Amino acid sequence: MLTPARTDVRLDGTLDEVDPELAALVRDEEERQRTTLALIASENYASVAVRQAAGSILTNKYSEGYPGKRYYAGNRWVDAAEALAIERAKRLFEAEHANVQPHAGAPANMAAYFATLNPGDAVLAMELAQGGHLTHGASFNFSGKLYRFVHYGVRRDTETLDYDEIEAIARREHVKLIVAGATAYPRVIDFARFREIADLAGARLMVDMAHIAGLVAAGIHPSPVPFADVVTLTTHKTLRGPRGGAILSRQALARKIDTAVFPGLQGGPLDHIIAAKAVAFHEALQPEFRTYQRQVVANCKALADAMGRLGTRIVSGGTDNHLFLVDLTPLGLDGQQASDKAEAAGLIVNKNLIPFDALPSTRTSGLRVGTACVTTRGLREGEMDSVAGFLHRAITAEDEETLHGIGREVRALLDDFPAPFLAPIAPAS
Ligand SMILES: Cc1ncc(COP(=O)(O)O)c(C=O)c1O
Repeated sequence: MLTPARTDVRLDGTLDEVDPELAALVRDEEERQRTTLALIASENYASVAVRQAAGSILTNKYSEGYPGKRYYAGNRWVDAAEALAIERAKRLFEAEHANVQPHAGAPANMAAYFATLNPGDAVLAMELAQGGHLTHGASFNFSGKLYRFVHYGVRRDTETLDYDEIEAIARREHVKLIVAGATAYPRVIDFARFREIADLAGARLMVDMAHIAGLVAAGIHPSPVPFADVVTLTTHKTLRGPRGGAILSRQALARKIDTAVFPGLQGGPLDHIIAAKAVAFHEALQPEFRTYQRQVVANCKALADAMGRLGTRIVSGGTDNHLFLVDLTPLGLDGQQASDKAEAAGLIVNKNLIPFDALPSTRTSGLRVGTACVTTRGLREGEMDSVAGFLHRAITAEDEETLHGIGREVRALLDDFPAPFLAPIAPAS
């Protein structure tokens, strides 16, 4: 008897069954995450609950618009999930308004600009080469093409923000918006001072807290929310949620922000990711999250101190947050060489420009090191001496054998810190 031909591809098979080729790649990546020390400052490990929501059937829905005001029918439960995410984001950050639809940090920034600027307007933000982000006016980014960005940086002597210079530029250039926030700045940012400068210059203040959102949520870094007109964030860095973005604002800007995100910039929201953001906000509202963020900063200080004791120069002399920058110049190697060597020893870091860097961004004179991932993994100050030793020995190693030897030590350390949150999950039904 002939088996009737299938009328569709199999929809209920597991990834292993349906696409073993891709499944093998995911397993390889899981193995890589389990067996290497992740020191990338912008990464973290999302919880199983966050990943379950992100992998849920909410991906099936179209819901252009906002809760209660959708273009399509059938949004009862999606409305409730987005409303929950909004309510939790507002509670977590004590914000008047939250938009949880931005697909990532870059579109969140784009929407914030759309809501506050006209093309050609002057904006003041941190120089990319000194710690700013691409979306803070890099000439090859949409931001630098659409608006007239002028930039501030850090002082040569202290390698910390020069607020007097920021004030002078803001007044001179008649900027409409000032952007505070960074991708690679290890010190506390004084948002009250930024507000004062914005008021003196007659500008609005936007804070891009993509990196420090988790620290702010936990009250470990001062919050920009009381001072800024608009605050953008990513949900996947220190905040430890799904890959995504969000925007907080004063009520007065709420409508402009919402229309800038949709229909101004995006189409249908990623409902499964919004649900996962709701879970992440819920996790961040728990008292344990505060303990975690405190440990992130304690680990970072311990690691930077230990690197310093090994003779490495730390930009600005240390850190107040989840990251620090290593100046490789005295070691006679560049960031690319150092990160390649570190990776060969199982330590994942990224090359990074340091203030007044003489090398291009493809090489750089620095490394950016962050502790959000290792802290999620359970490492504490006691392990930071070992991590510093691994990293220092790896970047100064002369041969492959040494790197492989360090790699074995890294694995042995990680064996004591299994990562159950990396387990494969069945999607939520
Ligand atoms: C300060 C800052 N803003 C925005 C972004 C962009 O976020 P995404 O990569 O999610 O677009 C980043 C990412 O690293 C960032 O560091």
